[in-house]
Amino acid sequence: MKLIETKTKTEMGVTAAEIFKDEIAKKHDLILGLATGSSPIPLYNELAAMCSAGSIDFSQVRSYNLDEYVGIGGDHPQSYGYFMEQNLFSRINIDKNNTFLPNGLADDLDAECARYDKLIENFGFADIQLLGIGPNGHIGFNEPAGLFSRNTTVVELAEDTIDANSRFFDDPSEVPRTAITMSVRHIMCAAKIILVANGNKKEIVDKAMNGEITSYIPASVLQMHPDATVVISEE
Ligand code: GLP
Repeated sequence: MKLIETKTKTEMGVTAAEIFKDEIAKKHDLILGLATGSSPIPLYNELAAMCSAGSIDFSQVRSYNLDEYVGIGGDHPQSYGYFMEQNLFSRINIDKNNTFLPNGLADDLDAECARYDKLIENFGFADIQLLGIGPNGHIGFNEPAGLFSRNTTVVELAEDTIDANSRFFDDPSEVPRTAITMSVRHIMCAAKIILVANGNKKEIVDKAMNGEITSYIPASVLQMHPDATVVISEE
């Protein structure tokens, strides 16, 4: 794994955005695997700025997101659908019909997972998969556990994830307990992986990059990926 350390979050965003820019310049109809959380925000800000300046073109890009909460829809301010719209899609020239997230309001969640797997299969694995990392080492919502799921799945969120994400909700009891997530297999099949993290994740990033490879620290599997880069800011 390659490690790039930056001083500020803004520099982290710029560094990651340059990688996206170079890859999209090489392949206009790139498939992006996208992520949510606070860590990708500086990157999304920079991509929006590049797009306004005309130095990056998303018109042929297609994207699918890693995960979504179960029980809240795209109009809920804490849903990942809403997050993506606010932080990226409404600010770049991507065709909204080419952006996809799991539907956390689906009546039949197993059918929704199967639909998402089919979508990934039809598109092909991501050319670039963007990741954040949970305080417990989760990627997407693949929580520490004995087994990884092969496919998109409904997961019970770990207590530390619920705690960490409760800062975004008015009332901690509103934090969803379950989510739909793309699998670790899907993530690992991406051609290139970029993980962005803020300084508060230094310890877990170090464990994931340099410790044992274990499903109890899901991000540690990235050590086995041929082209995974971590961009971490000191801030
Ligand atoms: C959520 C997402 C993860 C993300 C994590 C980190 O749990 N499901 O994909 O990596 O948040 O969030 P932050 O960047 O806010 O620390």
